[in-house]
Amino acid sequence: MINYADLSLELITEFQLSQETKKQIATLLQVAFPEEDFHGRHYFKQLPHSRLLLKDHNQLIGQLGLDFRVMTLNKQPMNVLGVIDFAIMPKLHNQGLGTFLMQSLIDQMSVFSHNIDFLFLVTQKPDFYEKFGFRLTNQYVKWLVTEEHINYGMKEEHIEDCLMYKPLGDKEWVENSVLEMMGYWY
Ligand SMILES: CC(C)(COP(=O)(O)OP(=O)(O)OC[C@H]1O[C@@H](n2cnc3c(N)ncnc32)[C@H](O)[C@@H]1OP(=O)(O)O)[C@@H](O)C(=O)NCCC(=O)NCCS
Repeated sequence: MINYADLSLELITEFQLSQETKKQIATLLQVAFPEEDFHGRHYFKQLPHSRLLLKDHNQLIGQLGLDFRVMTLNKQPMNVLGVIDFAIMPKLHNQGLGTFLMQSLIDQMSVFSHNIDFLFLVTQKPDFYEKFGFRLTNQYVKWLVTEEHINYGMKEEHIEDCLMYKPLGDKEWVENSVLEMMGYWY
């Protein structure tokens, strides 16, 4: 049973992370995404700008990374906060912790709707995110391909089954358009 009184949430900038926290993030990512090889890193492709950490006492039990960038949708720039590497310790799955972490992020970020137009994420499990108000989008997407710290140039493809957005401000999301990710695919 999870005792929510023992949990704490910390929003932290990437360059403030301690060695110990980076070690705990690296362990969490590797066990939560066993199909990927993180080579001991605490990030997958690139450092996020900040993170929301979920701890039980001093032990990291969940985390998500935040990538804040301008993307261009239908030729219009918009401020997009990407949620990446969202993970809960596997032995604690299906007890509501993922829901708690995602809802906490939305609550905390809603205050910044004057700066953040949309939350955004890539997923193979859209059902989980729909209950938080994320919607799948159908776009012609352009992004930078990166792998293991090497750039492989631009890729363009029609994507309809894994990109999700949630409006925070009052900007309108345009469907069936062109989405320039303005950087790497996370
Ligand atoms: C995705 C992930 C973060 C969800 O974490 P979680 O703590 O298991 O999430 P929750 O417990 O809140 O919700 C999971 C399911 O349990 C159910 N659930 C929620 N609260 C519950 C509770 N108190 N008791 C039982 N079940 C509960 C939810 O309905 C949900 O079901 P759904 O999948 O049909 O939506 C976790 O599975 C994970 O780390 N996966 C590996 C990494 C990954 O795939 N990350 C996502 C990349 S897009």
